[in-house]
Amino acid sequence: MTNYIEINNARLCNCHRGYLSCIEPRNWMKNQIGVWQFTYEPRDVRDKKVHPAVFPISMAKRVIEQFTHKGELVLDPFVGSGTTLVAAQDLERNAVGFDLKQEYVDLSNARVANPPENHPCKQIAVCDDARNIVNRITPGTVKLVFTSPPYANILNRERKNKSRRGDLRKNEQFGKIEQYSQDPRDLGTLSVENFEKVISEIFLAMKPVFMDKAHILINITDAWIDGKRVPLHINIINAMRDAGYEFRNTIIWDRRNLVNKIGIFGWPSSYITMGTTFEYILDFIIPCDK
Ligand SMILES: C[S@@+](CC[C@H](N)C(=O)[O-])C[C@H]1O[C@@H](n2cnc3c(N)ncnc32)[C@H](O)[C@@H]1O
Repeated sequence: MTNYIEINNARLCNCHRGYLSCIEPRNWMKNQIGVWQFTYEPRDVRDKKVHPAVFPISMAKRVIEQFTHKGELVLDPFVGSGTTLVAAQDLERNAVGFDLKQEYVDLSNARVANPPENHPCKQIAVCDDARNIVNRITPGTVKLVFTSPPYANILNRERKNKSRRGDLRKNEQFGKIEQYSQDPRDLGTLSVENFEKVISEIFLAMKPVFMDKAHILINITDAWIDGKRVPLHINIINAMRDAGYEFRNTIIWDRRNLVNKIGIFGWPSSYITMGTTFEYILDFIIPCDK
């Protein structure tokens, strides 16, 4: 049953109708380079006990600026700590975020609770399953999805802190499961195969909410699961293609500036790179004949 959230999506700028966004030419040019780097700022949530997997506000801002005009509607189906909403508020975009966990929804709403005076847009987080988005968002209103889904079930195990040395290994997170929840609807509880299937189902069901020229950007990293490299970015591309989206671009989030100590893992017998040095941001559109 539909129960649409009340939120605007009308443009508040005077840009040419055909333009993709309000972005300045020099920033557009900068974004053509497919490797992007970001820093976290003091407003970012950096405490893993508050939320275990947060992308930087600066990353959400760069994506929102590239793909939307002022006033347009941004959607984050897996909003977590609300980073996308904070970025949307800074840039005067409307935004809705979904999360299964009430605690994260409350945190997200608290982070956008005090907008500047006369702010023209609204940002809200809603506690609901991403599978239900088509019943909560008015058809034809969303210009951009920016999100980072749970990375299959990679958090669903006791933390061994293998990348830490000596006493640091047995810190307060050692032996704990830092999963978002054990709710069976949580994508973080799924095997890789089911993760791909459910991502496809969620984005297939979501299609009616998009307006023309909408982009869908998904942040994902590859993983090690049971000693094997699992290329989750390929699972996402397969899932989105199955759902009828067109894959357009790969952006690499270069995290070298955020990684503290680079060890000599595997030397000299087994070659292994540090997975944490980069992540993917995958860009999709809906083909015109949707
Ligand atoms: C990687 S986190 C997102 C973090 C976010 N980008 C941030 O910066 O805080 C993924 C989120 O998806 C939520 N989640 C998992 N399954 C979900 C579902 N079926 N519907 C909605 N949210 C879900 C989890 O609770 C978790 O907060």
